[in-house]
Amino acid sequence: MSKSIYIRALHAEDLAAIVDIEDRTTGIARPEYWKERIELSESVRPHWASLIAELDNRVVGFLFGKRGELEFGLPGTIAWIEIIGVHPAYRHKGVARELVEQFTSSAGDHGIKNIFTLVSKDNKEMENFFAKVGFAEGKLVHFQKI
Ligand SMILES: CC(C)(COP(=O)(O)OP(=O)(O)OC[C@H]1O[C@@H](n2cnc3c(N)ncnc32)[C@H](O)[C@@H]1OP(=O)(O)O)[C@@H](O)C(=O)NCCC(=O)NCCS
Repeated sequence: MSKSIYIRALHAEDLAAIVDIEDRTTGIARPEYWKERIELSESVRPHWASLIAELDNRVVGFLFGKRGELEFGLPGTIAWIEIIGVHPAYRHKGVARELVEQFTSSAGDHGIKNIFTLVSKDNKEMENFFAKVGFAEGKLVHFQKI
C-alpha cells in the first residue's frame, strides 16, 4: 500500500524546509525572501491558498497561491497558483497532484471555480506537469515591455 500524503496549511515553522526544497531544486537559497513570503501568506492571503505536503513525517512539498478579484479584465474571482515545489527525493509520488487538488477543492469551497497559473514556454517540465493534473492553455496572453 502506498504511504499517504498529508496536506495542511503552511506555517512560519515550515521556512527551513521550503528554503531547502528550493535550494535542492534551483541551487539558490533565499531564506529572507521566503520569510517575507510566508508572513504575507499568514497575514494577508487566504490560509487555504498556501499549503504544505508531508510524507514520512517530513515536509516534502509546498504550494503558494492567492485569490484575485476582477483582475486583468476577468470577471469574478480567480485562484492563482504562484509557485509549487516538491523535494527531489519525493517526486513522482503524487505529492504535487495532491497539493493542486487540495488547492482546487478549497478554492471551490470558497466559490472559486477558475484556477490559473503561469508557466514559462521554456519550462516543458511544468507545462507537462500542469497538463497532467488537468490544466490546459488559457485565453490570457502574457505581455512584457520591450
Ligand atoms: C513539477 C513538480 C512540481 C512535480 O511534482 P511531483 O510531486 O513529482 O508530481 P506528481 O507525482 O504529483 O505528478 C503528477 C503528474 O504529473 C506528471 N509529472 C510530474 N513531473 C513531471 C515532469 N517533470 N514532466 C512531465 N510530467 C510530470 C506525473 O507523471 C503525474 O502524472 P500521472 O499521474 O499521469 O503519472 C516537481 O517536479 C517540482 O517541484 N519541480 C520543480 C518545480 C520548480 O522549479 N519549483 C520552484 C522552485 S522549488
